[in-house]
Amino acid sequence: MITLKSDREIELMKKSGKILADVHIQLRDLIKPGIDMWKIEEFVRTFIEGKGAIAAQIGYEGYKYATCISINDEICHGLPRHQILKNGDLVKVDMCVNLDGGISDSCWSYAVGRPSKDVKQLMEVTKTALYKGIKQAAVGNRIGDIAHAVQTYAESFGYGVVRAFVGHGIGPTIHEAPVVPHYGKAHHGMRLKEGMTITIEPMINMGDWQMRETLDKNAWTAYTKDGSLSCQYEHSIAITAKGPQILTSQGEEETY
Ligand code: MF3
Ligand code: CO
Repeated sequence: MITLKSDREIELMKKSGKILADVHIQLRDLIKPGIDMWKIEEFVRTFIEGKGAIAAQIGYEGYKYATCISINDEICHGLPRHQILKNGDLVKVDMCVNLDGGISDSCWSYAVGRPSKDVKQLMEVTKTALYKGIKQAAVGNRIGDIAHAVQTYAESFGYGVVRAFVGHGIGPTIHEAPVVPHYGKAHHGMRLKEGMTITIEPMINMGDWQMRETLDKNAWTAYTKDGSLSCQYEHSIAITAKGPQILTSQGEEETY
């Protein structure tokens, strides 16, 4: 079932989204060659809890951490662990914040040290693909319009668009209807209504779109099948009469 949110509920989500955006901005300085991945998890959890909010991924379907930290060919749901990040790694940090019942979800990618030209392009294209999708999140458009915008842009660079994981409705729980794929046909799928809140979160592979058949032995982490790098940016969005409203950004550039 799709729940339409009141202005008040959207305001609450925006407040939690501000905390989430603040975390990502801080991570830009923290993520450097030589840092232990686990420090990122600790920093995020302390920051969120310090704001009186809840790191909402903890306890979600048995998940234990505030963040998903996925590097290089890990598509998503990488587990925070003791591992030193090195120059050239591509790191995705994904998290959910709950402030007084308002939930937000956002992932940014970070290059560790100086990204190569190829990695820089992958990051820029993934972020632009997200924003092209967001632009389509308007009342009266259809879910397929979001999907089509993301897919055609990413594929025009020869990249693969992950299919096994999709965006989703959000709030009062992390994952709810509808599903928001990042591949599909324009003018198809459910029509978007005022008050819907969704995530758009393209995972774009430098190589093929397919993922490895089996998850990691931890049963969470997904990898690219061909071992190519995967990149992701995600925002939570409200569909309003005035157009798409990004709940997890303060207008800052998601840089790397
Ligand atoms: N933030 C993730 C998403 O974008 C949620 C991961 S579920 C978890 O959908 F259990 F791993 F946290
Ligand atoms: Co999400």
